[in-house]
Amino acid sequence: MTASRPLVAGNWKMNGLKAAAAEFGRMVEGYGPEMRKKVELAVCPPATLLYTLSVMAIGSRIAVGGQDCAVAAAGAHTGDLSAEMLADAGAAYVIVGHSERRTDHGESDGLVRAKAQAVLRAGLTPIVCIGETEAERRNNETLAIVERQLAGSLPDGVGPEDLVVAYEPVWAIGTGLTPSSDDIAEVHAHITGRLFARFGEPGERIRILYGGSVKPANAKEILGIPHVSGALVGGASLKAADFLSIAAAY
Ligand code: G3P
Repeated sequence: MTASRPLVAGNWKMNGLKAAAAEFGRMVEGYGPEMRKKVELAVCPPATLLYTLSVMAIGSRIAVGGQDCAVAAAGAHTGDLSAEMLADAGAAYVIVGHSERRTDHGESDGLVRAKAQAVLRAGLTPIVCIGETEAERRNNETLAIVERQLAGSLPDGVGPEDLVVAYEPVWAIGTGLTPSSDDIAEVHAHITGRLFARFGEPGERIRILYGGSVKPANAKEILGIPHVSGALVGGASLKAADFLSIAAAY
């Protein structure tokens, strides 16, 4: 039982110039009343497109989101964007702790947690990403890693509507590889258990997305796995036809 509708969120990463707004327009057009009843859609474009897409999204109920934010609300932090700024540009969600940021920018669990708190402070919903590397999976450390990342990265005192967790095995991102359905089920059940331990009964209703090579061809199977309450989609969220076809798996 999820807190609300499942969520299919697109992470455009560092992709998309102004012309990409047309693709978003096709998503807006394709997100009809039937689909809206079953699934929530969100697109997290590069910050340069956030305001444009948020204006296009008015009335469509597709949410838009940021891909990262600073901890501070404002001040002398050249090049950074605060959660408040993303909210002002129309964001409803902010992805924090994506493995590409953990790797490229050395982000620790503690920093991810501070960013998640900053997102909440701005009145937005953090999508907190966790997931093991290939070596960690080979060493049978997946559950321990996920548990450690959850313990260190999640904000405190949140209800089911305030937080989304995304399980993204690092080795599945952009590779075309995915864990088996049993493996995804095991990790998602484990995360659910940890959320229950941390937040009590409401924790069980926090949405847990799977991310990593989700495509139209595997969406139905992955989105049907117990405790999977949506997907965080990279490459396949760049084209409206693919993204909508993933959402249509619901
Ligand atoms: O955040 C989504 C992402 O990391 C998954 O990317 O391209 O494997 O769907 P992709």
